[in-house]
Amino acid sequence: MAIKKVGVMTGGGDCPGLNAAIRAVVRRAHQTGYRVMGIKNGWKGLLDINALELDALAVSGILPKGGTILGTSRTNPYKHEGGREKLLRNFENLGLEALVAIGGEDTLGVAATLWEEDKFPIVGIPKTIDNDLCGTDQTIGFDTAVSIAADAIDRLHTTAESHQRVMVVEVMGRHAGWIALYSGISGGADVIIIPEVPVNFHDVAELIMKRHNRGKNFSIVVVAEGAKIHDEKGERLIVRSTQVDEFGHVMLGGIGEVLGKYLTDETGFDTRVTNIGHVQRGGTPTVYDRVLATRFGVLAVDLVSEKQFGKMSALKDGKFVASELAEVKKGYRLVDEELYKIAAVFFG
Ligand code: F6P
Repeated sequence: MAIKKVGVMTGGGDCPGLNAAIRAVVRRAHQTGYRVMGIKNGWKGLLDINALELDALAVSGILPKGGTILGTSRTNPYKHEGGREKLLRNFENLGLEALVAIGGEDTLGVAATLWEEDKFPIVGIPKTIDNDLCGTDQTIGFDTAVSIAADAIDRLHTTAESHQRVMVVEVMGRHAGWIALYSGISGGADVIIIPEVPVNFHDVAELIMKRHNRGKNFSIVVVAEGAKIHDEKGERLIVRSTQVDEFGHVMLGGIGEVLGKYLTDETGFDTRVTNIGHVQRGGTPTVYDRVLATRFGVLAVDLVSEKQFGKMSALKDGKFVASELAEVKKGYRLVDEELYKIAAVFFG
């Protein structure tokens, strides 16, 4: 009897911990008696049949490495003419029995649709530094991104103090403020602005003034890239980009610069802006992310061997469980109000 084959791919924005997940999928699959094909560059690799066999050697030494050995893309197969049919055909041509898709809302959204509409044998593994995926309490990459952002805030703190400056730190977080909130709380930020809580920049300026009036002559403002900030006329400060990906997302980044300018004008304080950008997505994963990715990877293969398709590995209430892939299409997992209120205790 031919040995069964399972595919594994990574899609969407990369993050530290993807290689740890790939390694875990491959090692558990081999232990279970599967061969593993790595699909290159997300859904694109399945449209183009760009795949390679992953033996034990191929995943040896990749556990602590950032990025993804498989490459990634933001390809949406449903946006390509005949994409769905091509994908189903190529999956069969590769002789695959199942696919493990490691991704965020877009990649796993496609996975959920493939399961719903075609009963495509698929299992997901959740990743995104934004940590905003429904169906799991944590995604691969978040812990590392937060650690990098917190380290940046610590560093900015010392120079802010020396120069008596306002430091605006822009972090990622398109729909949810998890990175801003966690890094801001742990870094002692004086204001944290997140997409879930729209603010007027006057209020931000006021908080800084309040702080300076009580003798603190430097401040740290953490702002998420997707923050909703309004000007004096109530108009939203928008950083426009003409670039839209195949899932319809505009390219974000730059809200910190705009805010910094407003704050300088309003407060008169010397202000500097740092956008830590893709530094948050690079480099070696934390221990937490390595273990999370490893556990998600092993669980995903177990789901495949039990033929529990249409599911994804998830962490819920501290337990590793299978959740429905359909959950990722329900919206975004936003930060809870309680946590925001705790952060706000330290504002100003
Ligand atoms: O999806 C995670 C994310 O890091 C978002 O926070 C950010 O808006 C986006 O990816 C950036 O994408 P790209 O790497 O394509 O610029």
